[in-house]
This record gives sequence, C-alpha cells and structure tokens, in this order.
Amino acid sequence: MRQAIKGFSKLSKEAKIEWLSDQYFESPEDAIALLKSYWHLDPKVQKLHDEFIENTLSNYYMPFGVAPNFKINGELFTIPMAIEESSVVAAAAKSATYWLERGGFKTTIISTKKVGHVHFIYEGDENKLQSFFRETKAILFRDTEELTANMRARGGGIIDLKLINKTSDMDGYWQIEALFETCDSMGANFINSCLEQFSQSFQRELQASAQFSAQEKAIQVVMCILSNYTPECIVRSEVSCKVEELNGDSGISPEEFAQKFQRAVRIAEIEPYRATTHNKGIMNGIDAVIIATGNDFRAVEAASHTYAARNGKYSSLTHCEVKDGIFRFWIEVPLALGTVGGLTRLHPMVKFSLDLLQQPNAEQLMGIVASSGLAQNFAALRALTTTGIQKGHMKMHLLNILNQLEATEEEKESIVEYFKDKVVSHSAAVNRFCEVRGIKNPNEIKKNH
Ligand code: HMG
Repeated sequence: MRQAIKGFSKLSKEAKIEWLSDQYFESPEDAIALLKSYWHLDPKVQKLHDEFIENTLSNYYMPFGVAPNFKINGELFTIPMAIEESSVVAAAAKSATYWLERGGFKTTIISTKKVGHVHFIYEGDENKLQSFFRETKAILFRDTEELTANMRARGGGIIDLKLINKTSDMDGYWQIEALFETCDSMGANFINSCLEQFSQSFQRELQASAQFSAQEKAIQVVMCILSNYTPECIVRSEVSCKVEELNGDSGISPEEFAQKFQRAVRIAEIEPYRATTHNKGIMNGIDAVIIATGNDFRAVEAASHTYAARNGKYSSLTHCEVKDGIFRFWIEVPLALGTVGGLTRLHPMVKFSLDLLQQPNAEQLMGIVASSGLAQNFAALRALTTTGIQKGHMKMHLLNILNQLEATEEEKESIVEYFKDKVVSHSAAVNRFCEVRGIKNPNEIKKNH
C-alpha cells in the first residue's frame, strides 16, 4: 500500500529515487535505471540541473532544433527552438525562407515597461489618502535608491508610481502601481524587492502621519507582486510584399491566396474558438524560442492571452491587411524577456542559444521571438488556406507514428519513401507498416496504438 512521506525533501537524490520506485512501480529496478539513464554524463552539469528546481530526480529531454534563414531587420539569424511537437520547426524554417526572398521580418519595439503592484485595503477618507500619497511618493523613491542603484546605472529603474482606487471593484481595495524599466533583465526579483520596500515605507509613513485616524491607519497590505501582464512591454514584427509576389502555392493565385489568408486572420479576430487555435499556433513559435533562451514561457503565455482579450473578447494576436496591392501581416505581442539573469548564464544550452543569436539584448530577443511566432502563424495559415494542415503536419509526424510501432530503420525508410507523394494519416501509416512487416490484421496493431 502506498504511503505518504514526511521529510522527502531532506532525503538524498538516491534515497528519493529509491523511495519513489518502491512505492509507485512494479519493477523498481527498471524505474531507477530509466531515471539514471537520463542523467548527464558530466556530474558537474548534472548537479547544475539538479539545483535548478527542487526534488530533482533526473532530466526531461525536449528536442532542441533550429530554424535557419530568418532575416530580421536585415540581419540573418538561425533561431533555436526547444519543442516536442513535430512540424513546428519545419514550418518556422519554411516561412523564414519564404520571407527571406521577400524582404524578411521588420520589428519595432513599441514599449518596454514592466509593472507591479502593492495591493492593499484602506478604509478611510479617499482625499486624505490621495494627498498623503503625493507627499510620500518621493520618500518611496528615496527608500529604494540602494535597491535600484545598479539598474539606474544601466539606464533603468522605477519610472513612475501611481495610487489607484479600486474600491468600485472591491470594498477598500487600493493599489500602488509601479512602472519599471528593467533593461536586459526580465526583472522579476528586482520588481518584487522594490514593491516590498514601497509597502514597508508606505506603512511606516502612514503610521507616523497625524492626518489619519487609528482606523484609517489600520491598512492591510494584501500582497506585493509584479504583474506578468505587460501591455506596456510590446513588440511588433511585420512581413510585407506586393500581392503578386505571394506566389509559390500551386493551385491558387497570389490574389486568391491574399484574400483567403486575410479572411483566415479576420476569422481569428472575430471568433474566439478560432482565435484560441490560431494563437496556439503562434505560441508554438514563441514558446520554443522562449524555452531555448531560458525565459519564462508561462509568464509569456499568460501575458499573451490576457493581451489577446484586452478589448473584452479573446482575439487574434496577428493581423493582416491587403491594400493598394500590398500584403501586410503582423503581430503585436507583450514579451517581457531577459538576456541576463535567471538561467541565461547557468544553463549551458541557453548560453548556446544566446551565442547562436549573437548575444541579443532584451529588445533584440523580443523581435526575434515575435518573428518566430509570426512565421509559425504564417506557415499554419498558408497550409490551412491551401493544402490543409494535415498534409505537412502528418508528413512530419510520420516518424513519431513509426517509432510508436517500433518500426526498424529499414522499415521507416521504406515507409517514408512510400508516403512522399501521399497524404499521411494514422491509419494509413499503420496499414502500410503492416504491409511492409507482413502483418495480416492491422486492427490488432491499431488497438494497441
Ligand atoms: P513542404 O513544402 O512539404 O516541405 O512543407 P519541403 O520538403 O518542400 O521543404 C520546404 C522547406 O520546409 C524546407 O526547406 C525547410 O525549410 C522546411 P529546405 O530546408 O529543404 O531548404 N522543412 C523542414 N525543415 C526541417 N526538417 C524537415 C523539414 N521539412 C520541410 N523535415 C511543412 C512541410 C510541414 C513545413 C509545411 O507543410 C508547413 O509549414 N505546414 C504547417 C505546419 C504547422 O503549422 N505546424 C505547426 C503544428 S500544427 C498546430 O498545432 C497549429 C495549428 O493548429 C495552428 C492553427 O490552426 O493556426 C495548425
């Protein structure tokens, strides 16, 4: 019978693995062997990984691929992508090459401000609080001077502080909203440290003030935390060309392609069911680069989806215009990224990715990531509005199906060759596998896979 455990975190890695394997696996030896087979050969590198998180037992591999031929603001990049889904890297690479011949991606940083809040409850006179905040603001800045010294030396720091009345949303709810410039760091620790200092200084000054009654002084700071929603940290990436240059898709004229493509984007702008899938495709391209460069894909995901719903309805992150014979396709997305701090100097593959990208600063990385998202969306929409998605996607997924069937290298080679001019589906792949292997009843195999 399985048992709970106290003090698991204090056990050695070996002891944790042993306990877990005994409790949860029929064959503990196999479980232990599997976990250990994923350890890095160099114990120093393994220790580094062990210490990234807590209760580490092993590593979880994610394929690391690259998409070459991205021309961004006139410069050529090969983009690193860590992702488990087939066809994403191929799609990005295909789009990159397509736009390489049509001027490439052009990016613009719209803004780079980050935001955080001291959320507090104050039950008292509004005007008093407003005038107290105006008087105290300079003290809040002064008290964080030590914390912000390095950031200010790099050209960043606290940009502004505002008092926001949220009492119409919840009784007594107020915020100190702080805007930050964190230069090349994502800035989460810096922002949270400043916010906690604001909270302390604000409460100290309030207690010392003669303006407030005892009841008014009894404010409650609920929490101090950055917001991962960064609508003022926005990048735009755009591709454009003459409509007549949108050639290359057999069976459809450039004009029809432009019209269908624009309609596909419009549908994602107005229809949340479609917008969700459309943006998922964009995040294929964004998350893969975010992970490869050691940034926080959960934060980027959360911010992107909030941004996509900023007008009260979930909508597309990309937009398209066909006007005066010019096709324009662009993305605007909040990306709070760092190229220093966090994992950037610690994880060897992250370091490799940033070296591959020629050590971008945060703004350059924002442009690269946004372009990867746009490329991905272009590839998906191009496939959806011409051949359909399954043709290319399943072509890339074929090897996964064959690996599941435990096909030999020879079988894989012959089956991949067979599907070169055919559309792949799961059952077609299984049927062909059975033919090659001489299995009479494909249904037996289908049941198990
Ligand atoms: P293709 O034209 O059959 O490929 O496209 P090709 O063999 O003619 O090669 C053309 C280029 O594609 C290559 O150029 C590569 O750049 C790339 P080359 O390197 O030869 O000079 N490419 C590859 N790169 C690396 N490894 C490969 C590979 N194959 C081609 N094995 C392709 C095939 C899949 C690229 C195309 O059909 C495509 O772009 N399809 C869209 C796929 C897609 O969007 N995948 C994302 C996952 S699906 C999803 O989850 C999102 C979705 O639901 C979102 C939405 O609804 O919006 C679709």
